[in-house]
Amino acid sequence: MTLPTKAVLQQLEQIQKQASEELEKINDPKELQLWKVRYLGRKSRLTQVLRSLATLPLEERRKVGVRGNEVKNILESSLAEREKILEEARIASSLKYKKLDVTLPGQPLSVGRLHPITQTLEEICDIFKGMGFQVIEGPDVEWDYYNFEALNIPQEHPARDMFATLWVDAEVEGGKARLLRTHTSPVQIRLMEKKRPPIRVVVPGRCYRYEATDATHESMFYQVEGLAIDKNITMADLKGTLFEFCRCLFGEERKIRFRCDYFPFVEPGAEVAIECLACHGAGCRVCGYTGWVEILGAGMVHPDVLRRGGIDPKAYSGFAFGMGVERMPMLRYGIDDIRLFYGNDLRFLKQF
Ligand code: PHE
Repeated sequence: MTLPTKAVLQQLEQIQKQASEELEKINDPKELQLWKVRYLGRKSRLTQVLRSLATLPLEERRKVGVRGNEVKNILESSLAEREKILEEARIASSLKYKKLDVTLPGQPLSVGRLHPITQTLEEICDIFKGMGFQVIEGPDVEWDYYNFEALNIPQEHPARDMFATLWVDAEVEGGKARLLRTHTSPVQIRLMEKKRPPIRVVVPGRCYRYEATDATHESMFYQVEGLAIDKNITMADLKGTLFEFCRCLFGEERKIRFRCDYFPFVEPGAEVAIECLACHGAGCRVCGYTGWVEILGAGMVHPDVLRRGGIDPKAYSGFAFGMGVERMPMLRYGIDDIRLFYGNDLRFLKQF
């Protein structure tokens, strides 16, 4: 059914008048919502009028359309205005009844924190920075060459058994296979290839080993490597540096043990252990019932390793060390399971 234009225009006037009058009287947000549905909703009279436009001749359609849209705009802006008035009234009344008490304590903001291992890494690097070391990094995915060959561990060398390796490539040919680095030592070679002595760096980073996890082993863990190369570097420099480091991290009182050890890429090689903090030397799960916890391997850089890095072992010498990072907070805080660090249990992590 089509109505004559005049009747339609009249209808629009009527809708506007009625809607405005009703709106004036609304004081409740819920009613406001109902009003919106009634006058602007899909089934409202206004919408129906606008829809029926298509049936009018072009001239009329324009006239009615313009007016219809005007009415719609007016209703929409009156609605927004009414909403604002109601909101202001709500705030005013809530302030009237609940006066603001400025003496109440504020709402605490919850602040995030760094992971205990990140904190430890920063602390370790800071100690070495204080001794003139630079902090650098290397890749997690490494070539067989850097992880093994260049470090005097050719294929079939028994020392490969020290490192249960996670391979990226199945084929190993002339050091060309990729693996997840089993220690941070490959960065030694990478740096020597690029930089001439004097070198003094520490290298924090993730390492990976194909091992069953237990209280003291994880398949992913952190190490910090150290490397110093210059003229006349001796074992005394190595020992002095490591003792100073242990004193800074664990305090003056802690007993430190410095012994011989073997690593193919150093000669002579050494190992540093400190008195177990969890049991104070009596023997427990953390120290494998020995009273001592090994925290790092070290030694004088092997001449062949220097040579492969393009450094003349007759002119230069150097020391290197590599430490396990998780051990440090375990010792310090008496944490007896390494898996806690990567279990993402907030009850544990929140304590640091
Ligand atoms: N890379 C050795 C390891 O992971 C540690 C080490 C570093 C030993 C440097 C000697 C010199 O066990």
